[in-house]
Amino acid sequence: MTTAPPAADRSPGPSEWQSAFDAAVAAEERIEPRDWMPDAYRATLVRQIAQHAHSEIIGMQPEANWITRAPSLRRKAILIAKVQDEAGHGLYLYSAAETLGVSRDELLDKLHAGTQRYSSIFNYPTLTWADVGAIGWLVDGAAITNQVPLCRCSYGPYARAMVRICKEESFHQRQGYELLLALSRGTEAQRAMAQDAVDRWWWPSLMMFGPPDDRSAHSAQSMAWKIKRHSNDELRQRFVDICVPQAASLGLTLPDPDLRWNEERGRHDFGAIDWEEFSQVLKGNGPCNEQRISQRRRAHEEGAWVREAASAHAAKRRARETAPTGRLPGSTTGRPADRTAAPKGAPAS
Ligand SMILES: [Fe+2]
Ligand SMILES: [Fe+2]
Repeated sequence: MTTAPPAADRSPGPSEWQSAFDAAVAAEERIEPRDWMPDAYRATLVRQIAQHAHSEIIGMQPEANWITRAPSLRRKAILIAKVQDEAGHGLYLYSAAETLGVSRDELLDKLHAGTQRYSSIFNYPTLTWADVGAIGWLVDGAAITNQVPLCRCSYGPYARAMVRICKEESFHQRQGYELLLALSRGTEAQRAMAQDAVDRWWWPSLMMFGPPDDRSAHSAQSMAWKIKRHSNDELRQRFVDICVPQAASLGLTLPDPDLRWNEERGRHDFGAIDWEEFSQVLKGNGPCNEQRISQRRRAHEEGAWVREAASAHAAKRRARETAPTGRLPGSTTGRPADRTAAPKGAPAS
């Protein structure tokens, strides 16, 4: 944010900071971690970025499920790279959240306690290899549609993280499309497997955009703060319009008898979404909620020794870097470690 701060000869009042913030947002300037921001803006960002980070790492599970069963070395290498990318997205996003004054540990504790959410899409199972393709094409595709506008989000660290994430997501989407294309051009059984995966993932993908605008609790304020740029329904419509011609090129059908081009609107009409299913999955009653969270908790516990080792290593490096650097007699590096070095000419032990 580059807006001039309130007059310097007296301390600014809350309304002046608020006005400076509002002006910066209106002028499309980025809010940075050290800038003043309203408490509610900070809290909204923490909630959204944490939920996004949690989705990235929980989202590794359904696909990692297929790494050992990938049908070729090429497919396995691609899938490993993709799952690893998702871990990286989690890291960028936890780092972005940390700039708002929360720690990664705190956020992970909330995920494990069930007080912060992750995207409901990852509570569905991956039943066949074609699900890897359907997830790439539809789930990563929906994520891109949602996330490209976030590259212009008013909060600088989040917007910058999204630029890198979106580049990687577009690779994910293409590999999913390519995988489904190979299946749909394969044997009849492979084509049927691809169609079945698309049938199961289509509706949950549409739910990824969140509830309809008139039922979305946070939308209006997030749009006013320019965290969010388009409404849930607008993004959902955009996604449907993108997918219809792609499904046709794939030779697969989308499981919606009401899906058709509306000449007047210049967009596709589509059928009603089962919001009751969405709300059940959000409440923890989806097919894999239990499994996802218990696996995450277990991975966290089993990784405790890695975190301890990394902290011990970091502490050691810090101590080394802050140790006095004055040169000791006979030393070549001046490092304290030289104190224990054998004197010149001493026999090698
Ligand atoms: Fe991702
Ligand atoms: Fe992805």
